[in-house]
Amino acid sequence: MDSVAHLPANEQLDASGVMLREAWYYALPSQALARGAMTHKAMLGEPILIGRDSAGAVFALCDTCPHRGTLLSRGTFNGREVQCAYHGWRFATDGQCTAIPSQTADQKPQAADIHAKRYRVAESQGNIWVYIGAAKTLPPIPQVPAIGDRQQLHVAMTFDCNIDLAAIGLMDPAHGAFVHRSKLWRSEDSIHEKRKSFSPLPESEGLGWRMDRHVASSNSRAYRIFLGGAPETEISYRIPSVRIEHAHTAKYDYCGLTACTPVDATHTEVHHVMYWNVPLGGLLRPIVRAFARRFLDQDRRAVMAMVEGLAFNPTTILVQDADTQTRWYYRLKREALAAQMENRSPRNPLQRVTLSWRS
Ligand code: FES
Ligand SMILES: [Fe+2]
Repeated sequence: MDSVAHLPANEQLDASGVMLREAWYYALPSQALARGAMTHKAMLGEPILIGRDSAGAVFALCDTCPHRGTLLSRGTFNGREVQCAYHGWRFATDGQCTAIPSQTADQKPQAADIHAKRYRVAESQGNIWVYIGAAKTLPPIPQVPAIGDRQQLHVAMTFDCNIDLAAIGLMDPAHGAFVHRSKLWRSEDSIHEKRKSFSPLPESEGLGWRMDRHVASSNSRAYRIFLGGAPETEISYRIPSVRIEHAHTAKYDYCGLTACTPVDATHTEVHHVMYWNVPLGGLLRPIVRAFARRFLDQDRRAVMAMVEGLAFNPTTILVQDADTQTRWYYRLKREALAAQMENRSPRNPLQRVTLSWRS
């Protein structure tokens, strides 16, 4: 085993938190945006207005008014046009300005000359995603496997840290027994050796990896209670930060989608969406919601304690194999950045491999 002094720089935790562009980011659950409503969000430090028109279509615009920068989302929306609260400029949902009330007919500019920047937006499986970037061809939107009639639940929490620290905090496979210690879920005594095989994601699903289908660990007791039996699970991870988990027994399925969206360089929203098709599953929603919020808050507190420590610039150690996915995360992120700089498609450098750790 290498001593710390011999670890190359990238074998330490990189806390720089570059916010990767050219990607779909989770914005909000569909149900949070009624027809005729609009809302403000900051994503990757950009102000974004997300709205739903009276026909039900979702749109996204730069939220600063082209006139003097006022937040357009503080104005009004009639289901067809957004009107700025300051001087009443109006904008169609594609960003085209349609009226500048202060202008006489011969003055410049006229409404036709003005556009608010438009963002690509997509709605899928009860989620609204915004594409941050300028690419002409867009990657596929992250999707959970279809599981038929289902219940859905969304919880979100903001971590006061950059996307890297949130993402690697959530993917870490060795913290369960300590951070999520619980009679129902895990205890330190239940730690045992695990071996799991991983494969690179097919190119069509983006840059990432998959923990191949396997029978869920004996210390995943919550799954067993929820799905009635020992489920098989499969987990995929896609850069910049979307984790999709599918667990199923002969009868029932559970899918979880976890997505990190940087608000800015020091705040990251963590969204967790759950789907299940257990009969009368709707009755479970309040319990599952409380459980999920508690779970996510345990992760948040663990990450915040790490952030406090990292502020002192300590030397850190990435171990074998429990920290391998963290290494992959950085490696794929560097590859995504390099591909963007060199104007080429990213190449997945990962190989099929079996990792082992105790958790
Ligand atoms: S700032 Fe929006 S209309 Fe003037
Ligand atoms: Fe966790």
